[in-house]
Amino acid sequence: MTAAPATLTWDAVLEQVADALATRGWIVLDGAVPAAVLDGLRLRLHALDDQAFHAAGVGRQSDHQRAEAFRNDRIHWLEDTDPAEAAWLAWADGLRAEMNARLYLGLNRYECHFAHYAPGHFYKKHVDAFKGQANRRLSSVLYLNEGWAHADGGELVIYEPDDAEQVATTVVPQPGRLVLFLSEGVAHEVLPAQRDRYSIAGWFRVRESMAP
Ligand code: OGA
Ligand code: MN
Repeated sequence: MTAAPATLTWDAVLEQVADALATRGWIVLDGAVPAAVLDGLRLRLHALDDQAFHAAGVGRQSDHQRAEAFRNDRIHWLEDTDPAEAAWLAWADGLRAEMNARLYLGLNRYECHFAHYAPGHFYKKHVDAFKGQANRRLSSVLYLNEGWAHADGGELVIYEPDDAEQVATTVVPQPGRLVLFLSEGVAHEVLPAQRDRYSIAGWFRVRESMAP
């Protein structure tokens, strides 16, 4: 399947993202990522075999079984030695630089991994960074599924900033859809997927010494 072409201009993406982050703390965007980048990532994903993925951890939790009750996706970190992965890392880096210029976020690097949720898999409600502790400032999720129906489950539920009981929006993981939200204070969860669900989850970070 070929992805729909990017329908938003780079300027429109930047404007919408900067505005949403400054006012609301999260945004869901379709048509932001160029089709060539998406197609490359999908091919790369299919070329990686299961052994390239490993169980994700939860914070400093070392107890594997307890971690699995909280999240059971399997992950593979991206590196710029692969051209398709490098294309996404470059796109994200452009976004990083522009958000710094517009919002003075001081983001100095981006890290991300592919995530595979097999049928029945989920990620319970969490925040990606705790205030004053971590140095993840902006979270991203890009969906790489081949279509997605309501019955497939696996929605991303985003809660209002600083109110983990109030649902802000429910995101269907449609192909090419990009979600960005502030890492601190925006709780979210992945509902159980009914079929294989693929994404790239990533974090824009500030330097260790810049974290409060
Ligand atoms: C994460 C995460 C959301 C998603 O990996 O931290 O919240 O929709 N992922 O895959
Ligand atoms: Mn998360």
